[in-house]
Amino acid sequence: MASTLLTNIKLLAGVRNRNSLLRGPDLRLLSSIADAYLLVEDGVIAEYGSMDQLDDPESFAGTMINASDQLVLPAWCDSHTHLVYPASREMEFVDKIRGVSYADIAARGGGILNSAARMADASEMELLRSAWGRLQEIMQQGTGAVEIKSGYGLTVESELKMLRVIRRLRESSPIPIRSTFLGAHTYPLHYKDDHEPYIRQVIDEMLPVIAEEGLADYIDVFCENGFFSREEMARICEAGKRFGLVPKLHVNQLNSIGGIEEAIRQQALSVDHLETMTGQDVQLLGQSDVIGTLLPTAAFFLRMDYQPARALIDAGAAIALASDFNPGSSPSGNMNFVVSLACIQLRMLPEEAINAATINGAYAMGLEDEVGSIQVGKRANLILTKPIPSLAYYPYSFGTNLIDKVLINGETV
Ligand code: NIG
Ligand code: FE
Repeated sequence: MASTLLTNIKLLAGVRNRNSLLRGPDLRLLSSIADAYLLVEDGVIAEYGSMDQLDDPESFAGTMINASDQLVLPAWCDSHTHLVYPASREMEFVDKIRGVSYADIAARGGGILNSAARMADASEMELLRSAWGRLQEIMQQGTGAVEIKSGYGLTVESELKMLRVIRRLRESSPIPIRSTFLGAHTYPLHYKDDHEPYIRQVIDEMLPVIAEEGLADYIDVFCENGFFSREEMARICEAGKRFGLVPKLHVNQLNSIGGIEEAIRQQALSVDHLETMTGQDVQLLGQSDVIGTLLPTAAFFLRMDYQPARALIDAGAAIALASDFNPGSSPSGNMNFVVSLACIQLRMLPEEAINAATINGAYAMGLEDEVGSIQVGKRANLILTKPIPSLAYYPYSFGTNLIDKVLINGETV
């Protein structure tokens, strides 16, 4: 049996005896053990406690890691990404610097449509190779579980191609991957004025194959003016549910058009983005079981208002944090920066941000039994920091790489 023993850990953070989704004031409860040890057996957390409970470490036969002055955290659970994509879009980035808006770029056939045009020409092999590189990169940055969406295909063939790439990633990835079907990301240009034929393709042609091949866990819709209306989202969610997919939705990035209310009605697992929220949206979400997934780096990159994390927490909402890794609105999957930005701009406390990016992120992709906390039986997906003075120092020192090691299933990445 392969075992690893971490000893003298300055602070072992995110320790839990039992799983629970954290909402409202509970989000700041990050239980921790000072001067701790943690034993990994066969890739799984087998035991942990304070050093004085550890008897006879000298007789231990496996790999020993002395983690004095270091913190150990659960690896990040990034519950919202689009990391399978054919090409970067830095020319649009430059256009935005010159003053063109994200909505203008979309309206002239750029943005998602630009990626979809490139997707049509990309082979499964090329997509797999570039996405595999991004997956390795985020693992090195401490991500230990990830969700990935389709949505740059927008034809039956290309959407299925993307989902098959996600499946192949999932088959070889050491970290768990969840897959989301986002056929309803935008309309191909020729359906701009007549949405119906495209919605029919999503429902009648894409969904049955996705269900038959088991290609997705979740169904997503981009519910915004100029994209999918509330009613269109409702129809697509209902169709997805008939095929066994749970809704996990893009809402309230640019407009508030009833997406939150509809998502609650549809019993969505999460509503993601939330840059544009009315007081009523905040209250509704706070009283619901739907997780609010905040994507601060998308707001940062597009120079939008940040998500109202404090109001949501005050309203009792369950908040997760994710990277939205994609070529248009967040070309980075670095969850360390997501957590820093959540503290700096959303005014989340370090404990709240870490919980939102670990255990609540795990819930937001149905992986709470596998990852997201230091708990016996969960995967040993862990971040070992460099020597640092305190937990708050981690998000405070934004942009500095404070990771000494990432363990995935107990193995150093
Ligand atoms: O989550 N807003 C919708 N979709 C993506 C961005 C897509 C793109 O610009 O490529 C997002 O931000
Ligand atoms: Fe997104």
